[in-house]
Amino acid sequence: MLHALIEKLSDYPRFFLFCRGLLESNFRVIRQAIEEHLGPNPDRKVLDVACGPGAFSDLFSPGSYTGIDLNPKYIRYATKNYNGQFCVQDARALDFPEGAFDDVLVYGLLHHLNDEDVTSVLRGMQRVLRPGGRALVIEDIPTESRLNLVGHLLHWAENGHHIRPADDYRKLLMPHFRFEDEQLFRSGVCDYYMARLIPHENGSTNESSGS
Ligand SMILES: C[S@@+](CC[C@H](N)C(=O)[O-])C[C@H]1O[C@@H](n2cnc3c(N)ncnc32)[C@H](O)[C@@H]1O
Repeated sequence: MLHALIEKLSDYPRFFLFCRGLLESNFRVIRQAIEEHLGPNPDRKVLDVACGPGAFSDLFSPGSYTGIDLNPKYIRYATKNYNGQFCVQDARALDFPEGAFDDVLVYGLLHHLNDEDVTSVLRGMQRVLRPGGRALVIEDIPTESRLNLVGHLLHWAENGHHIRPADDYRKLLMPHFRFEDEQLFRSGVCDYYMARLIPHENGSTNESSGS
């Protein structure tokens, strides 16, 4: 019942942003990581996959930023409150031309999806990135410190049913991307795995490296 209530409340963009901002010190660490790895550059076209209410769109040049999310309420809120292009779209079936983007950001989506759906998202990202483009993936991992009680409670309460250890994300990413950088870090009460990636060329996959 608590899970259902949290899911319902999260549907309200302001509530979602307020709670996450509180738990993650206003996203200071996440914003720093995104800026450092994908910094604003008007010449680079960016796709934010599962952009939510668009809270990170201001880190990019408005003319070069596109955010997609499955939740129409979030997209309506983002369109009203931020600059950039926003549209309702399923990340498992990205509807953009091949090589349309220089950079792709995924923050906090994959831990909601099973392995098969994650693979669909990653194939799509690989396809819409131009050769030599970059992807930045930031995903929840199990809470590390036993003393981080709020972090444990949050993972128990929220609807991320596929929170994985870093190595499991790595295995899913490997067939589609080569790794430029990897980090583990804490943002407020949340522990994260971050990877900066380059797609394998010509949409090829390296399936054996993922097993
Ligand atoms: C934890 S939120 C992260 C949102 C955003 N990246 C942020 O940090 O504010 C997860 C997001 O994934 C979106 N989502 C879940 N499944 C999706 C799918 N198949 N396609 C696109 N978005 C999806 C949800 O609507 C939600 O906005």
